Amino acid sequence: MCGIVGYIGTQPASGILLEGLRKLEYRGYDSAGIATLFEGKIDCVRAKGKLHNLQTKLVGHDYPGWIGIGHTRWATHGKPEEHNAHPHLDMSRRVAVVQNGIIENYRELREDLKQKGYEFVTETDTEVIPNLVANQLDQMQANCELEQYLSPFTEAVRRAVHQLEGSFAVALICTDYPDEIVIARQESAPLVIGFGQGEFFCASDIPAILPHTQAVVTLETGEMATLTPLGVSVYDFEGTRLRKHPYLLSGVSTATEKHGFRHFMLKEIYEQPGVVRTCLDHYLNLDWVTDRSTNPINLGLPVGLYTNLEQVQIIACGTSWHASLIGKYLIEQLAGIPAQVQYASEFRYAPPPLTPNTLTIGVTQSGETADTISALNMEKQRRADLDDRFQPRLLGITNRMQSTLARLVDYAIDMHAGIEIGVAATKSFTAQLMAFYGLALDLAYRRQTLSIDRLEQIILQLRQLPGQIEAILETQEKQIEELAHEFSETQDFIFIGRGINFPIALEGALKLKEISYIHAEGYPAGEMKHGPIALLDEKVPVVAIAMPGSVYEKVLSNAQEAKARDARLIGVTPVNDPHATEIFDDVLTVPDVEELLSPILAVVPLQLLSYHIAAHRGLDVDQPRNLAKSVTVE
Ligand code: F6R
Repeated sequence: MCGIVGYIGTQPASGILLEGLRKLEYRGYDSAGIATLFEGKIDCVRAKGKLHNLQTKLVGHDYPGWIGIGHTRWATHGKPEEHNAHPHLDMSRRVAVVQNGIIENYRELREDLKQKGYEFVTETDTEVIPNLVANQLDQMQANCELEQYLSPFTEAVRRAVHQLEGSFAVALICTDYPDEIVIARQESAPLVIGFGQGEFFCASDIPAILPHTQAVVTLETGEMATLTPLGVSVYDFEGTRLRKHPYLLSGVSTATEKHGFRHFMLKEIYEQPGVVRTCLDHYLNLDWVTDRSTNPINLGLPVGLYTNLEQVQIIACGTSWHASLIGKYLIEQLAGIPAQVQYASEFRYAPPPLTPNTLTIGVTQSGETADTISALNMEKQRRADLDDRFQPRLLGITNRMQSTLARLVDYAIDMHAGIEIGVAATKSFTAQLMAFYGLALDLAYRRQTLSIDRLEQIILQLRQLPGQIEAILETQEKQIEELAHEFSETQDFIFIGRGINFPIALEGALKLKEISYIHAEGYPAGEMKHGPIALLDEKVPVVAIAMPGSVYEKVLSNAQEAKARDARLIGVTPVNDPHATEIFDDVLTVPDVEELLSPILAVVPLQLLSYHIAAHRGLDVDQPRNLAKSVTVE
């Protein structure tokens, strides 16, 4: 959702900026650009499309300068054209800015600046920023104020930022102050500063900085900083100097190689057995093997988080929302606590009535999704002044323990999925499910809603999951690839499931639509007959998730109803039921497993099916159009 990067130091900036942008491309890839400053002039190069277009444009050109800023864009205001690409400059080309976020009041600001004679050449919200800063510098000069400040540029940015409404992170350079980068953060757009030797970096995310340094400071909302070759000063938006100490990053994986796989998505699908093993290693208490009086689960969560718990509410978006639906099922069925799942983007503007003793769980792989962060912030604020029973209890489930979410919540469960590069979530979904199994079992143990024998049975089955996923990958991929080739012309798909596997139908449909651009819908299987069945004919394949358990026969009946309307039926089901295999035209087999554990296996063939359909269509599987890995605007 736009990535920004900045460099000031002793090396040519352009190479470092490009390298940083490559690490941030997951945040948006509609266009990219860099601006460097040399001998009182800003050189700005921008290109529409992916980063390699910018790289191609830069070949053979020498852009000197030891200071610069860069941007990779996910378009919000203005089409993804070169003239809308960042960096944006003021009309006198004195100030350049890169921005991640949205300036909500840009229309008023632009009109106001136009009245003052400023001209605009883009449709973006960002272009007001360099003009506001230039305007502030002019005013300060006219009022003879420049000398009053150690860094007049920082002061001008500070005054400009005060005029901006919205959620944003910005980095700016100015020809009048050639050894300063000024950065600022408001609300949910992340920004980190990296401390090198005689060089300093800033970026939307750590991977852009990690090749150069592990010493970082995270900018919080309402903070800004000035980076010079001599050091970094951090301020609040009132201009008060803040004391912040760099911390050292440890254990952050930046593995960004495909290791022989054609796409990151396929590699990440294959990493799932390892992810499940890692989760089990972290979440299960080894002492329990010999001492049954201990808690079998070890999430490091304090008793206070669970005391008198009456209600759980889970807030998430997209694939994380699907994982949360399964989480709700597990928490209710295993621990007996009522649970609600909310779309983060809806929750904030229509919050449910406050309930006492409520655990609020924010689920976000990136830990930066603006909708989720805003909803959790709102929940925290609206409970803050209430009595003890209503006090916020915030838990996060995230893959990024340095993220905004992790800093916002009281406690966080680390998903241990490792960095996920493919924009379509795969292994992070599986990891979120593992976190929910851990949480539901932890709750069940503490509330004594499950017998020790039952706990043992579930844990034993969890331990078998990695081998079972491996079996699916080994035995099914070839067949799924061949099957995928038959859908080159297909325009619509329906996915059906019930109970704990209804969210898997939603997730199967989401995976297919986001990477193959085929229209796909996920439905509770029993709902088909209430309307959607009208869509079915021989051109609309139906994928039914039919895992033995409480709703197995019902799903098979619903699948029969689809078959009677000539739909081609694809079943995700264990191999050992001849009745099921007879119903389906194609069977994607998974190992036989208890219904409670079945989502983790059922999703794998659906990930492979989407992947192979999209790859066969020659689409950019890892960076599908219009999407970004981390969505930091609401
Ligand atoms: C789908 C996908 C998105 C994300 C959603 C939330 O494959 O990746 O739907 O799940 O944008 O992202 P996080 O989990 O980072 O909050």
